[in-house]
Amino acid sequence: MRKKIVAGNWKMNTTVAEGVELAKGIVAKVNDISKGVSLIVAPPFTHLASVGEVLKGSPVALSAQDCADQPKGAFTGEVSAAMLKGVGCAYTILGHSERREYYGETSPKLVKKMAMAFENGLKVIYCVGEKLDQREMGNHFDVVSQQISEVLFDLTPEQMKNVVIAYEPVWAIGTGVTATSAQAQEIHAFIRETLRVHFGEKVAEETTILYGGSCKPSNAKELFACPDIDGGLIGGASLKADDFIAIAQAW
Ligand code: PGA
Repeated sequence: MRKKIVAGNWKMNTTVAEGVELAKGIVAKVNDISKGVSLIVAPPFTHLASVGEVLKGSPVALSAQDCADQPKGAFTGEVSAAMLKGVGCAYTILGHSERREYYGETSPKLVKKMAMAFENGLKVIYCVGEKLDQREMGNHFDVVSQQISEVLFDLTPEQMKNVVIAYEPVWAIGTGVTATSAQAQEIHAFIRETLRVHFGEKVAEETTILYGGSCKPSNAKELFACPDIDGGLIGGASLKADDFIAIAQAW
């Protein structure tokens, strides 16, 4: 059975104090969700230590939103995978469309970041997804397939155990427009098939593939009922503990 995951990507939101309150709100309700669902929260770097303290002893895992592509040294402003591990992160998100779009992240850079994450024992939530014009031109399968092959295909099946894929159509992120469950299922099945062709049946069947893009309590149930959707990467709706928990209760 694949792991079901609901992960909250807080992006550049909340002060440390607000983040601590949000984490407390999530931990207080974690028993309301079914045991088979794993929760992850990804606060900003500055919040990791304090939010990590709140999560201690709870089943909620801590994630970063990014990590450096270098191990250490003169890289002003960067945060290394070793630092993230040291502060208690189990995961880091990599390749979010906002990082690709606004910070010029390319596949070669993501390959290096992924290597840093694995060397330091972090699991990776690897984001893929097409832009609106790419979908309108019918190129979404090619775009996603390229994002997967360029960054994941040199990994071993063993390393793939530490990868969660998040399919996030850029046109659905923060827009209120959600992919229909049929659109999402179609591309999730395509992603799983892509893994099957390259890595084989076991990796394909065991890899958790999350949907992200305006996922909220009102649409999570329909999305998560799809056979190839194993949960969600949640932005806006993860900033309210009640909504985040309600999404995790959608199964
Ligand atoms: P959203 O963001 O839920 O606010 O659309 C999802 C994401 O970017 O991870």
